[in-house]
Amino acid sequence: EKGGYDSFMAKEIAEQPHAVGDTLLGRTKDDGELVLDELRISEDQLKNVNRITFVACGTAAYSSLVAKYAIEHWTRIPVDVVLAHEFRYSDPIVDERTLVVSVSQSGETMDTLMAVKHAKDLGALTLSICNTQGATIPRESDAVLYTHAGPEVAVASTKAFLAQITAAYLLGLYLAQLRGGTFADDAKAVMTELREMPEKIQEVLDRMDRVIEMANFMADTRSVLFLGRHVGFPIALEGALKLKEIAYIHAEGFAAGELKHGPIALIEPGQPVFVIVPSPDTPHELHKKVVSNIQEIRARGARTLVIAHDGDEDVEPFASEIIRVPQCSPLMAPLLTVIPLQVFALHLAMAKGLDADQPRNLAKSVTVE
Ligand code: M6R
Repeated sequence: EKGGYDSFMAKEIAEQPHAVGDTLLGRTKDDGELVLDELRISEDQLKNVNRITFVACGTAAYSSLVAKYAIEHWTRIPVDVVLAHEFRYSDPIVDERTLVVSVSQSGETMDTLMAVKHAKDLGALTLSICNTQGATIPRESDAVLYTHAGPEVAVASTKAFLAQITAAYLLGLYLAQLRGGTFADDAKAVMTELREMPEKIQEVLDRMDRVIEMANFMADTRSVLFLGRHVGFPIALEGALKLKEIAYIHAEGFAAGELKHGPIALIEPGQPVFVIVPSPDTPHELHKKVVSNIQEIRARGARTLVIAHDGDEDVEPFASEIIRVPQCSPLMAPLLTVIPLQVFALHLAMAKGLDADQPRNLAKSVTVE
């Protein structure tokens, strides 16, 4: 059932173009207009939403963080992301105009389920982004938007992550469409880009030879750091989580802007640091800032493993290794930049002789609080 792959994780990584493509399927008209009648929430109710709170755990919380940047940009609705177990035991500001979006691959995560119940008790509108038809969380929610990644078996989440970003983007674009005017026009243009992503994801997958080689050389590595800004920040967190989870290596993700507020003290000669570089056309000089972060750590001896877009020459002087991904607009980049990190974690686990599908101490779905 692994379809010729060494592991379920390898198979699921390879299935990512389909996970995204199938999640988009049948949800737009030819002209790019989104049709989400399946949501079970009326247009009026959605138009009334003035605040969105995502609740999720682990990888699902990181896809939510990616979505926060996009949805706020497209809709100007404030979006928070709260770890489900923190939301549950806090006193969140939620009312009937708040849309609480839970994100869960399994739909059975107890922490997330309890957060959804808490949100309902507080009068919020609840929507579940879920990969498992008929699971408990979508049943407990007012509405559901399924991801169509297909069953995910490996404990480390990969294709569900990409599908979650896709579904959350659909939700954001739908809200933008409902707002009308330039919001709706912009949403249509983004939809066109989103539909091109499965092909670009495949292109990244076809380029992974060097990443695999790097992982094979790094079996003795004790610590890896990950840096990113904007949507690259949650990707840094996700890259670190994958490595902890399946390769048992100490790994930490930081917002690159935090470096000088502490973490740069960790940099010593030879320290491997992945840096996720935004595309050069990202607004607010973000690209320049990340390039200077690479320069700063390189000057202190870090081994800089840089994930950059095709054609970005600015990173070349400061990169120990460059992993290239196709060009795309800044908010689409997470669907590409996370892939080398998944592949790296998988192959490092394999190089250490570990079973990536079944890491110690972990279960695929965490059904206790
Ligand atoms: O099934 P869920 O998406 O609710 O699971 C949430 C987390 O437990 C899950 O993403 C976990 O962090 C993964 N093992 C990460 O790879």
